[in-house]
Amino acid sequence: MKHILQMKHITKRFPGVVANDQISLDVIDGEIHALVGENGSGKSTLMNVLYGLYHADEGEIFVRGQRTKIEEPRDAINLHIGMVFQHFMLVEPLTVAENVILGSEIRQGVKVDYKKAVAEVQRLSKEYGLQVDPHAKIQDISVGQQQRVEILKALYRGAELLILDEPSAVLTPQEVEDLIEVMNNLKAQGTSIIFITHKIKEVLAVSDNVTVLRRGKKVGTKATKDTDERDLAEMMVGRDVLLQVEKTPAEPKDVVFAAKDLSIKDERGSERVRGIDLEVRSGEVLGIAGVEGNGQSQLVEAIAGLMSIHRGKLQLNGSDISHRTPLQRKRSGLGYVPEDRHRRGLILDYSVADNLILGFHGEEPYVRYKVLRNDRAIQDNAIKLVESYDVRPPEPNYKAASLSGGNQQKVVVAREFTRTPSFLICAQPTRGVDIGAIEFIHQQIIAQRDQGAGVLLVSAELDEILSLSDRIAVMYNGKIVTTMDAADATEKKLGFLMLGGQPEDYSEAEEGGIPDEVES
Ligand SMILES: Nc1ncnc2c1ncn2[C@@H]1O[C@H](COP(=O)(O)OP(=O)(O)OP(=O)(O)O)[C@@H](O)[C@H]1O
Ligand SMILES: [Mg+2]
Repeated sequence: MKHILQMKHITKRFPGVVANDQISLDVIDGEIHALVGENGSGKSTLMNVLYGLYHADEGEIFVRGQRTKIEEPRDAINLHIGMVFQHFMLVEPLTVAENVILGSEIRQGVKVDYKKAVAEVQRLSKEYGLQVDPHAKIQDISVGQQQRVEILKALYRGAELLILDEPSAVLTPQEVEDLIEVMNNLKAQGTSIIFITHKIKEVLAVSDNVTVLRRGKKVGTKATKDTDERDLAEMMVGRDVLLQVEKTPAEPKDVVFAAKDLSIKDERGSERVRGIDLEVRSGEVLGIAGVEGNGQSQLVEAIAGLMSIHRGKLQLNGSDISHRTPLQRKRSGLGYVPEDRHRRGLILDYSVADNLILGFHGEEPYVRYKVLRNDRAIQDNAIKLVESYDVRPPEPNYKAASLSGGNQQKVVVAREFTRTPSFLICAQPTRGVDIGAIEFIHQQIIAQRDQGAGVLLVSAELDEILSLSDRIAVMYNGKIVTTMDAADATEKKLGFLMLGGQPEDYSEAEEGGIPDEVES
């Protein structure tokens, strides 16, 4: 067994936190090694050390048996290590091929040889099954394709060990399947991969070995075939995790939110939501199932007031809010957990405490006499929320930017839930969040429902839709195809409708007829 990488006793401290505490990690040549653990357990930090972005306070790194010093990414690249980050670093107005060669241009004289770059991108795309148009501009392609560009970029620089930091968190379920295929292709061609994910299913589907971190320490490494969902969940969180949400049947009351004949056009003038009628009652969760890009994002942004509507009406607690500002809507009882926490949910440069009052910062008790900032009240609010939502580290004065991805999400959820909104929009509420925190957020969503909030849940995860919703609406091509009781929904049925199938064409017999065991 040859090791492509051995990290030995790596320690990395930040003020007040030991992000990596004597962590060792061995990666065998040609394997897919999953790296898992709760939010803030130190995964990204360890990989940033390996890629030369952070310097370890202690420890050693061996690449192909050789002790090495990695001072900066350039050193890592020279050792054939590549990294794809949680947040991409592409240049939007440039093309795919330009981005791939950026920083390491193939030069011909002094001019960049664009033609050659395109050919190279095409060759790599083909070799690894990473289809993407080399001439397309980054701003015009999907997130899944942008990720492919990042992978191509690393391969182009000769990566033999590829670090993928939560690549699946931003993908649709179909794109995740494609990614798994790409990873298997890469492995077949001899590339070693370190794969960070919160999805245990993905770990089991694709990895050879898995290393678990908890609170900056290594819990252990296991062969994937010797472990299972429960075992991994327990290793990650240190206790048994409820993989099912416990909830009583809904008791829906009055309508808190209604959309009537709602139509929304995007910046380019094309109609993305095409005449929708929707009602959410107090005390119920209405789930929207749909393949991403079918109008769900526009729908929630319009309800939150971040996008204007083209036609129709939005009603909150009986009042027409169609033309109110986002802040007015918040004050009328709207809670909003946005899908893009960096763009909509947080100000990364502000402290956690300030982020926890965003939108309410002009109100009592956070200001006194309308102008004086009440630091005491802001701190108290933060201390309370950081504790009850288990934000780590529990430091109200840290900048939001220094929190791990999942902990940033907890800050947004804490702020929006704590105001006991009467109508709560949750868009991808558990994206990038660890399993312990998923369990917690799910319980909180149900708790909001039971306190009388109407909840609109948008998620790319069918599991999440099925386990939380009381009713499910399927959205396809800007329209609601059908709405059903959650009890009548199955993954298969939703999948069929999400791809444009008509309710009347769906046959139950097809699904229930022959159970899988009998078939095989
Ligand atoms: N630049 C930084 N400055 C201060 N603290 C940091 C910095 N980067 C990370 N940390 C802290 O180090 C710890 C480990 O964070 P890290 O980002 O490695 O977690 P992670 O396992 O990748 O989590 P997630 O699953 O949420 O992405 C956290 O407590 C985090 O707040
Ligand atoms: Mg991370």
